[in-house]
Amino acid sequence: MLRAAQIVVILLTTSFSLQVLSEEHKVAIASAHPLATAAGFEILAKGGNVFDAAVAVSAALAVVEPFSSGLGGGAYWLLHREKDAFEVLIDGREKAPMAAHKNMYLDKEGKVIDKLSLDGPLSAAIPGMPAGLVHLSKQYGKLPLSESLLPAIRYAQTGFAVGERYLKLLKFREAVIHHYPETAAIFLDKGKLPERFSLLRQPDLAKTLSNLANSGREGFYSGSTADKLVESVNKAGGIWTKNDLESYQIIERKPVTGVYKGLKITSTGSSSSGGVVLIEALNILAGYDLSKMDELTRKHLITEAMRRAYHDRSLYLGDEDFINIPLKRLLSEDYAAGLRSSIRLDKALPSELMSGQIELQTEGLNTTHFSIIDDEGNRVASTLSINFPFGSGFVAEGTGVILNNEMDDFDSYPGATNGYGLIGGIANCIEPGKRMLSSMTPTFLESDTDIAVLGTPGGSRISSMVLLAALDFEKGNGPESWVKVPRYHHQFMPDVIEYEEGALSEPELTSLKSMGHQSKKVRYPYGDMQAVLLNKKTKSLLAASDQRGEGRAVVGK
Ligand code: GLY
Repeated sequence: MLRAAQIVVILLTTSFSLQVLSEEHKVAIASAHPLATAAGFEILAKGGNVFDAAVAVSAALAVVEPFSSGLGGGAYWLLHREKDAFEVLIDGREKAPMAAHKNMYLDKEGKVIDKLSLDGPLSAAIPGMPAGLVHLSKQYGKLPLSESLLPAIRYAQTGFAVGERYLKLLKFREAVIHHYPETAAIFLDKGKLPERFSLLRQPDLAKTLSNLANSGREGFYSGSTADKLVESVNKAGGIWTKNDLESYQIIERKPVTGVYKGLKITSTGSSSSGGVVLIEALNILAGYDLSKMDELTRKHLITEAMRRAYHDRSLYLGDEDFINIPLKRLLSEDYAAGLRSSIRLDKALPSELMSGQIELQTEGLNTTHFSIIDDEGNRVASTLSINFPFGSGFVAEGTGVILNNEMDDFDSYPGATNGYGLIGGIANCIEPGKRMLSSMTPTFLESDTDIAVLGTPGGSRISSMVLLAALDFEKGNGPESWVKVPRYHHQFMPDVIEYEEGALSEPELTSLKSMGHQSKKVRYPYGDMQAVLLNKKTKSLLAASDQRGEGRAVVGK
């Protein structure tokens, strides 16, 4: 960590001039960090397409938001190529190591051992992000990976000034970071929390990124980086093998789709629950004319739709390579009509009458998202994660790579809740080589006139945030409005509406209570939505970055 006047100079050099933009096409990029947005435009200016820009933004976020995502984590990239209307979901979600087993976080009495799936290398699954970057670049980009990774390598090498969010999340994970000297040496300043605007340099991460840039997947999944990863994970109590790394593969999947009042939804299927929860909730709501209802009834119905969609999440969703998911049913409008028929306009359905037990939820501020679209309609929605802030808190020696704690997204036993209070069943139990269930919901929405690209971090609340934004889009509002929508959330268990300040008024809270709803105001606003919009006719673009975060949305000409 440096604290110096040179920071200003470095900031100027790292904040690539946003004037130098692609001559060919207008592009909108919204990401959670100004330097990541700048990285995208830098690569467009070098002749890259939106997929090259997505590689650059993903890699830059891995450097400038080490608390949210990174080479030690996983990601989903939802792509649309306009010339042949090709759409695909790149599933770069992490996988359980082959030595993982369903009881690995339980003690002899079968009770979950506190923190074992959250802190340290035993909580880390095999990363998918590096393989995803290689695939995205090779398969869909125009530029070599060595070019698209340059901004990220530069940010890691020369450093950048850390902001409020970094400091807040570092403080939140201070205890685990202190526990691992390699991590503390990178992110703390001589063992203490750094000052705001301190310079964070990550030379080891720059080297690891360079290996990836020069050697492709071999630069991470085999050779010296892989040796260091496996050796230091095992030295600290983890269970990775070289074979786990060498055999990791991303999967190209068909996105899930649905239609809500003429709006086409394209989103993430397994190994994420995101798109299924979103589409199922919208299918339930499609039977109402929300525009003609008072706010209270609207919010009650949206809550009841969330309750039912999240209930199905806990029963049916997991890694489709390991379980049979009744996808056709879950996405069916007829099935949603059946669920709708159990909704009363005047009364909440207690979740305990559906199934399960009530557990409390912890709050998380993790994961990250970016959205890109060009004026032809080529687009990328990507949500990336290492799970909790600073993931497992463990950096593999000499790599600069902070490992995820995504193993916590599995269910330790049926009926268990994870760090977000999500209740789960056997569909999402731990198995060797399996992907853990995610909530990430990178999404496209398309109306007759417009195409939207959006998503957000926020753990289990991700899908409900995207749902509220989609409903706002359907009302005719634009990205500036979607990212601002005051948020509320219900996930079946715990049976409570969590809401941001201003999302539910006092009279609404009183009425919701009399209908049988429990409500709880969250301590802090949540989410960090990044959204862009293309008007199909005028080709005009809009972009918006959530004011709750520190991101930047730019439309470049
Ligand atoms: N780890 C957060 C998610 O996958 O949804």
